[in-house]
Amino acid sequence: MKNIVVFASGSGSNFQAIIDFIENGHIDAQISGLIASRPNIGAIDRAYKYNIPHFVLATDQSGAGLSDILIKKLNEWKPDLIVLAGFLKKIPSEVIEEYRNKIINIHPSLLPKFGGKGFYGINVHKAVIEAGEQESGCTVHYVNEQYDKGDIIKQKKVPVLEGDTPESLAQKVLKEEHKLLPNVIAEILNNN
Ligand code: GAR
Repeated sequence: MKNIVVFASGSGSNFQAIIDFIENGHIDAQISGLIASRPNIGAIDRAYKYNIPHFVLATDQSGAGLSDILIKKLNEWKPDLIVLAGFLKKIPSEVIEEYRNKIINIHPSLLPKFGGKGFYGINVHKAVIEAGEQESGCTVHYVNEQYDKGDIIKQKKVPVLEGDTPESLAQKVLKEEHKLLPNVIAEILNNN
């Protein structure tokens, strides 16, 4: 059985999609732990509900302290794959080095468009609408030292329709994220 560690900062609907995918028997894997970037987020409630061990980072944790604690938890949870599912802290380079090509991220745009610092959550969809794009979507990519710049694994497009708001676009994209992310996880774990 493969181990997955999920990192999250928000409601954790992508975390839930991975839980459901495993519960439905699509992959022989377990989520051995959740790293939450802050307290009181939906993802933590989901970890409790499914008895998934979790660790909450202090909001001001950064630098060597952050990489030490992450590496300690990861050594404990032994991930075959680390999945950033709406995680808003930058992953320290020591962690990326230690888990090279074993960390993936889901981003709510068609990278390389609308990626990089400041582009997260609803900000991405606002920028897409303001730019008058006719399509958007989501991207799963490997994580390297540069924000949202690692190799792209898979994307799914979503049309931007007249009358779409950042919120309606976010909803459409999120729905696709919930399918794309678990499927990419399965592909990676089945090929290793
Ligand atoms: C998702 O839309 C994810 O793509 C985005 O945050 C949301 C988390 O939702 N991630 C980023 O913007 C990363 N740059 P969730 O907590 O419901 O899974």
